[in-house]
Amino acid sequence: MQQANKIFIIGFMGSGKSTRGRQLASSLGWAFIDLDKKIEEMAGMTIPDIFSEKGETSFRKLESEALDRTLSESKTVISTGGGTPCSGDNMDFMLANGLTVYLKMTPAMLLTRLAKSPEKRPLLKNVDKKTMFDFITAKLAEREGCYSRADITVDSFNTDNSELYSLIKNYILE
Ligand code: S3P
Repeated sequence: MQQANKIFIIGFMGSGKSTRGRQLASSLGWAFIDLDKKIEEMAGMTIPDIFSEKGETSFRKLESEALDRTLSESKTVISTGGGTPCSGDNMDFMLANGLTVYLKMTPAMLLTRLAKSPEKRPLLKNVDKKTMFDFITAKLAEREGCYSRADITVDSFNTDNSELYSLIKNYILE
């Protein structure tokens, strides 16, 4: 692929996309966009409220619109939501317009991280603690096909920020 001027960070809920994306942007001296925040600004309400008041289909429409709006950005790291790559043609859009980086984590690791704040995630609203591991395992398996199309897959737990920077630096416009 040509040298990218945008990086899309993808991966399951709780895999550290926003934190790692922000750190990467700062190391590169690039701008940073959190797609979930952008959606909240566009809708004027929080993600849990969009889900409960308008439904998931409306949320997915807003999500694709927010993603499309990143097209004009340059030298920008964009952290996406866990479902972004698996909705509509979002993954094709990201592959065509930037470098896609999948932060991969095991279900066990994701469980530890997600169990701390499930209320922020509408998809976990009706999942109780006992079945959360099974839910994460099944959802991750369902989404792996989209995630694995990424240009680069990173073992998120065992890769520190400087290793991540080294991995991507050959692919981007500096
Ligand atoms: C979602 C993940 C969330 C958010 C929304 C839907 C998903 O983002 O976009 O709640 O479908 O996995 P995070 O991955 O940042 O939690």
